[in-house]
Amino acid sequence: MGKAWAKFILSLLLTMAGPISPLAKAQSPDPVATAISAPMRSPQDMFFSCARCHSIGKGKLIGPDLSDVQARHEEAWLIEFIQSSTSMIERGDKVALELFLANKKLPMPDHDFTREETQALLRYIAAESKKLKANPKFLDNDFSLAPHSTNWLAILAISLLLLALVDLFFTKFLKYRGLHFLVILLSLALIGRILNEEAVTLGNSLGYEPDQPIKFSHKLHAGENKISCAYCHTSVYESKHASIPPATLCLNCHNLIRTGANTGEAEIEKIHEAVESGKSVKWVRVYNLPDHVFFSHAQHVQVGKVKCDKCHGDLTQMGRVQQVTDLSMGWCVNCHRDTKVDFDNKYYTSYKQHEALKSGGLAQVTVNDIGGNNCQKCHY
Ligand code: HEC
Ligand code: HEC
Ligand code: HEC
Ligand code: HEC
Ligand code: HEC
Ligand code: HEC
Repeated sequence: MGKAWAKFILSLLLTMAGPISPLAKAQSPDPVATAISAPMRSPQDMFFSCARCHSIGKGKLIGPDLSDVQARHEEAWLIEFIQSSTSMIERGDKVALELFLANKKLPMPDHDFTREETQALLRYIAAESKKLKANPKFLDNDFSLAPHSTNWLAILAISLLLLALVDLFFTKFLKYRGLHFLVILLSLALIGRILNEEAVTLGNSLGYEPDQPIKFSHKLHAGENKISCAYCHTSVYESKHASIPPATLCLNCHNLIRTGANTGEAEIEKIHEAVESGKSVKWVRVYNLPDHVFFSHAQHVQVGKVKCDKCHGDLTQMGRVQQVTDLSMGWCVNCHRDTKVDFDNKYYTSYKQHEALKSGGLAQVTVNDIGGNNCQKCHY
């Protein structure tokens, strides 16, 4: 928690600090240069793909805040990094490698932008940093699906319970005891229900298998029809979150497929209703970690090559998603103790254990050995 605050305050200070570096200034938009080059992607469109992981002046997301990034690196370095950070890391570029390690080894995807396009993108980032300095406004960039909120109902129920108890034993304002017991019973029932729901949304509820607003079946889609997981969970290989698909993605197929073998038209019709009304489908979240834990899919699925079913079970056999692992700290830590790191992986060419492993000095290296069980790796 302290670390997250420190980072937030740092990003605040950075954004409020005086004019940016001379470097950034020299790169302010140059309309002539932009006009000469052939049809180019617009910087806004290009930045759209960065915004998933980077903000300009709104703090760190998955990657560092990009405001003032020109002050931190040479332009040539930046262009190469944006085009292909992975090959720089592979090659052992010192600055790139340090960044990669400092960012929990989250890989940044390569981009097929031309040199000119990348330069235009950098100018755009510089201009946006400058704009922000003129008018600092901080928006909340929250990627999580389920926001936590104060449970007013729980507070009400507890207050009612206390009032009833106090009146029963001390103030004796109400004459009929039956009334006290009724209130006590009702508030206890309500508290019980809330606790049950809370326990469930807090994760750690092995076997949790809620009804979903649309009877969507993984068995049918990922199993029988062999649709790949990443077709719907698009960001699972590159980002912290796997992401849940928007209803518009379902329409890729369900514009044509209007009836299902089991549910007829009723369930598929709900997809069309959602898209037409512009409302998102309110899927009920199954796997959920507390806010103080950092977990990244990219790190596990892309870098660590861990298969989805190790953590989520075999979804191709599930009609309804069920939580099959308890998401406890012990579960994470034990797997890190048992799992060998895949050193054929291109992200590790510069690790010193790699040499030791090759020369036979170390029998095996687990995630624990590379520091995966240090508290601050998982806790903000
Ligand atoms: C999937 C997430 C992701 C996307 C998308 C992404 N980046 Fe990154 N970026 C990162 C991470 C993580 C780092 C830290 C270095 C590392 O781990 O390799 C980083 C680092 C950087 C850095 C170095 C920052 C510094 O403080 O030194 C720059 C510059 C950068 N990214 C630019 C971009 C641009 C421009 C785009 C869009 C074209 C982009 N990134 C898209 C994740 C991402
Ligand atoms: C056709 C799209 C589609 C495909 C393909 C798909 N999923 Fe899903 N997935 C969804 C939707 C929609 C939800 C949310 C509704 C639900 O939980 O059933 C979801 C939910 C999930 C969840 C639960 C998320 C949570 O915590 O609420 C997991 C885990 C998951 N999918 C894993 C997978 C895996 C693993 C595969 C590949 C074997 C896969 N999915 C293939 C659409 C898809
Ligand atoms: C090492 C364990 C692990 C692996 C491997 C893994 N997941 Fe997850 N997954 C989790 C955890 C933990 C959460 C809860 C994350 C949270 O609450 O922040 C989660 C959440 C999800 C969600 C809910 C939405 C979200 O992004 O939080 C989906 C969908 C999902 N996983 C799909 C997948 C798919 C698809 C794969 C394989 C390509 C996969 N997962 C591999 C552990 C894993
Ligand atoms: C790549 C194609 C594809 C995508 C994308 C897709 N579906 Fe389907 N869906 C199918 C097929 C094929 C069927 C089987 C139709 C049948 O029963 O003949 C189906 C059937 C269904 C059914 C009816 C099941 C039954 O047996 O009655 C529902 C409900 C459904 N899909 C929901 C969704 C939702 C929600 C999404 C988006 C998250 C989605 N689908 C995305 C191909 C797709
Ligand atoms: C099925 C095994 C497995 C489970 C379960 C698992 N992990 Fe991991 N984890 C790995 C592997 C393998 C790596 C190594 C990835 C790599 O090569 O850097 C890893 C790496 C990590 C790292 C990066 C460590 C480093 O040194 O940079 C973090 C952080 C992490 N895991 C968090 C978690 C959390 C939090 C959970 C539980 C919610 C969890 N993991 C559950 C297998 C697992
Ligand atoms: C590999 C990931 C990982 C590492 C390393 C890790 N934790 Fe945790 N920790 C978790 C997860 C996941 C939870 C949430 C478990 C839950 O909700 O029951 C958690 C929960 C906690 C809690 C709250 C307990 C609770 O019941 O909610 C404390 C305190 C804690 N960890 C302390 C530590 C300390 C101290 C260390 C270092 C010795 C550490 N953790 C290392 C993953 C990790």
